[in-house]
Amino acid sequence: MEEKIKQKFAEVFGDKADIFSVRTPGRANLIGEHIDYQGGYVLPIAVDRYIFSTGRKRNDRKIRLFSFNYNEFFETTADDILYQNTRKWANYMLGVIEEFRKLGHSVPGMEIVIGGDVPVGSGLSSSAAVEISTGVLLQKLSGIKMEPVELIKLARRAENEFVGVNCGIMDQFAVHLSKRDNALLLNCNTLDYKYIPLHLKDCGFLLVDTKKKRSLSSSVYNKRVRAVEDALNIIKQYEDVDFLTQVKDISVYKDRLSEENFKRARHIVEENVRVLTAAKDLENRKIEGFGKLMYESHDSLKNLYEVSCDELDFIVDFSKGFSGVKGARLTGAGMGGCCIVLIEKRTIPNFTEQLSALYKKQFGIKPEFYEVESVNGAFYENKP
Ligand code: GLA
Repeated sequence: MEEKIKQKFAEVFGDKADIFSVRTPGRANLIGEHIDYQGGYVLPIAVDRYIFSTGRKRNDRKIRLFSFNYNEFFETTADDILYQNTRKWANYMLGVIEEFRKLGHSVPGMEIVIGGDVPVGSGLSSSAAVEISTGVLLQKLSGIKMEPVELIKLARRAENEFVGVNCGIMDQFAVHLSKRDNALLLNCNTLDYKYIPLHLKDCGFLLVDTKKKRSLSSSVYNKRVRAVEDALNIIKQYEDVDFLTQVKDISVYKDRLSEENFKRARHIVEENVRVLTAAKDLENRKIEGFGKLMYESHDSLKNLYEVSCDELDFIVDFSKGFSGVKGARLTGAGMGGCCIVLIEKRTIPNFTEQLSALYKKQFGIKPEFYEVESVNGAFYENKP
């Protein structure tokens, strides 16, 4: 894939002289869902599906972008960075360029080809991977230097302010700073993090793609973010907290919040506790305990946070009855996208065959399966 992107660069922009290339993985969250924007703990891994970007500086102000996957070209200038209603893929790159400009950096003209094999709209953070890729590349092309955490924050702002999704910081963090064979335990309030080695014995992670497309900016995500902010504002009248994840006993607010917002807030408080228990289980190599928490997390996302869907529930229910599976849950924002399954590797062929047939019968389409390995975050090189 990387070679194809470089080849495309030569085709579109004439040759491959002076190029930089960045490879940024997608991510799958093991547990800790919908709590990053409330200062919670999350536990993602970066997965071996990548966004590749290849680019070079221009001597004029032109910004010329080419999407390998969409086979589309977009051109503007460094002084004219505007949200695009068609060619939406360009917004994740333009948003990052705009954030560099807002910091007072002089952004040069550039030409970039972007593309990869992180499935789009499947909840594996292809957008964060595009943002971080663009940010790393832009630093190389312009000579601007930035600490990884600063770039991560900048990429999140690009998504919040330019793209219009009020996401937390997990995805940008995971695709930039993950480490191979480890999960990343991140405190989304302090941004402290540590790596937890994945000793999974005979097990591995399998992603099941529902193939149900959903757009993150679609109202549900932003609606949930607003609902839990409303709940937090009410709780702040009684307790000195910055985030819902700091509330010790959510049950005292049962009659002070609407029924719906109480459920949302309860998910956040309980999910945060689950992440810390899960991280300990992982450290102590307690795979069964870890898997059980994955199921509990899914139930909470389904019943309290209400971001699951029939397809995801079907996959989780099937997993529960399948010997060899330790745990399963939706990963990412939900409402479609992927389910992550912790499974004994030797049972994967049977699992995929049986699930595929039943899923097709139920929903009329086949799910897709990605057996993933945990990998390092963004990486760059300057070889043609
Ligand atoms: C999306 C967002 C993240 C996070 C997850 C849900 O992936 O980009 O910030 O909120 O949903 O955990």
